Amino acid sequence: MREQQPAPLIDSPAAVALAKHAQAARQWRLRELFEQDASRASQFTLEAAGLCLDFSKNHLTSETVKLLAEFSEARGVETLREAMFRGERINRSEQRAALHTALRLPASATLTVDGEDLVSEVQHELARALAFAERVRQGDWTGFNGKKITDVVNVGIGGSDLGPMMTCAALRAYAHPDLRFHFLSNVDGHAIVATLAKLDPATTLFIISSKSFTTQETMLNAHAARRWFLNHADEKYLAQHFVAVSTNTAAVEAFGISRDNMFPFRDWVGGRFSIWSSIGLSLMIAIGKDHFRDFLSGGHAMDEHFCQAPLNANMPVMLALIAFWYRDYFETSSQLIAPYHEDLRHFPAYLQQLEMESNGKRVTRDGQPVPMKTSPVIWGSAGTNNQHAYFQMLHQGSDLIPVDFIVALKPVHDLLDQHRALLANCFAQAEALMNGVQDTSLPSHREFPGNRPSNMLLMNQLSPATLGALIALHEHKTFVLGVLWDINSFDQWGVELGKTLALRILSELDGSETMPTHDSSTDALIKRARDAIK
Ligand code: F6P
Repeated sequence: MREQQPAPLIDSPAAVALAKHAQAARQWRLRELFEQDASRASQFTLEAAGLCLDFSKNHLTSETVKLLAEFSEARGVETLREAMFRGERINRSEQRAALHTALRLPASATLTVDGEDLVSEVQHELARALAFAERVRQGDWTGFNGKKITDVVNVGIGGSDLGPMMTCAALRAYAHPDLRFHFLSNVDGHAIVATLAKLDPATTLFIISSKSFTTQETMLNAHAARRWFLNHADEKYLAQHFVAVSTNTAAVEAFGISRDNMFPFRDWVGGRFSIWSSIGLSLMIAIGKDHFRDFLSGGHAMDEHFCQAPLNANMPVMLALIAFWYRDYFETSSQLIAPYHEDLRHFPAYLQQLEMESNGKRVTRDGQPVPMKTSPVIWGSAGTNNQHAYFQMLHQGSDLIPVDFIVALKPVHDLLDQHRALLANCFAQAEALMNGVQDTSLPSHREFPGNRPSNMLLMNQLSPATLGALIALHEHKTFVLGVLWDINSFDQWGVELGKTLALRILSELDGSETMPTHDSSTDALIKRARDAIK
């Protein structure tokens, strides 16, 4: 555990220097910063793990970077980073380590925590899951009529859905050509009804993914899938069609899945950090063992950079510091994620859980109010569609919204004319946001104020390794932001109240509980619903 308290968020010398510097920075014009320094782009570009971050189009100078890095050091980023990688129980409210980084360590590494050799355990479970994935891919694991599996359905929600769904879409070009993947998360029955209608029970494999194996949505969907299957096949075939990924062996067995068909992981893997564990089973089936190992290597390469690079040249640290800079010194309330890559279309949703479930908190690790704004709203969608939806507001609206553009220089297809158009649009948006148009001869509705910041995150090509690096980059960005605000990024107590109240309302909806019990609005809604579906 951290031995010394971090410097205060607001009135330490580093924080005071930063606040003073921010007063001046708020007056700067980005266009002028470029005019003053021809080396600006190269000065503010970082390379790591196959990714390149150009953060030059931000309201910062080398002095800003220096002050932000000093501030992050004073807040204890390095100390807590080491504690996390060592396996200390930094998730205090749940008394757990946050060791997702152990899942991507090479087999030759060593990590002993509480006397346990975690690397060999991780490698053992990884090898088991990959071996199963290969059997499905090769048609050696068959359905009940002896035919190859054609459809894989991941049933899970939150981190047990978004990681598999986002990565399977992102690595579509590397996926097995004869397998289709489906993701069932919403408790809304419309989703499962629509999915099951497309499936043949004889060739469908369900992966029930739930760390707790108690999540209401996942359990309802899993039971509905099981009933559907048993309407078409004998119970003795269940084992060929249902496997589980969980930490809860007893609940998995109670559902009817044996330990042989269960792929476990440990409680020190948080849901939103779990794609590297057996929660990645659908991705393993999609891309196979070699590509999955490349994906882990990409994540590990970013871990090494994060651990070794100085704070002022550290990609996750800088990404976090820039986000912090805008959130707390420019009073921005949201951050747009704009992947100019159709295969990354689910990445903004993935980051929503990663960042907002991690840092959407208002008290410190010691339970004191955080004296600054914490997580911004994370939102976004793929370019260029985004340009024809809400980019108007980015250019001429009244809010300052920092943008993270993400783009691959080379496509995984051969339509180079379209790819050039994609790149041109992406770079043009960043340029337009920064420079705007100030021409007094134009009517004001034609003016663009400009001075709107963005990061440009480049990769050569979207591949298993670069995707791994991209995810790890954002995991560490999220962690660093948590350290800056001194909040526990690894728990999620805020989702519990809604779950408890939903259970209470559920018992009222099916008529087993008497009313009124809530406010008049909630009672009226329950009554309307009860009358409609009785
Ligand atoms: O939304 C709350 C949450 O606990 C997430 O943190 C988690 O990813 C999700 O629910 C699913 O949990 P489980 O994997 O236990 O079903």
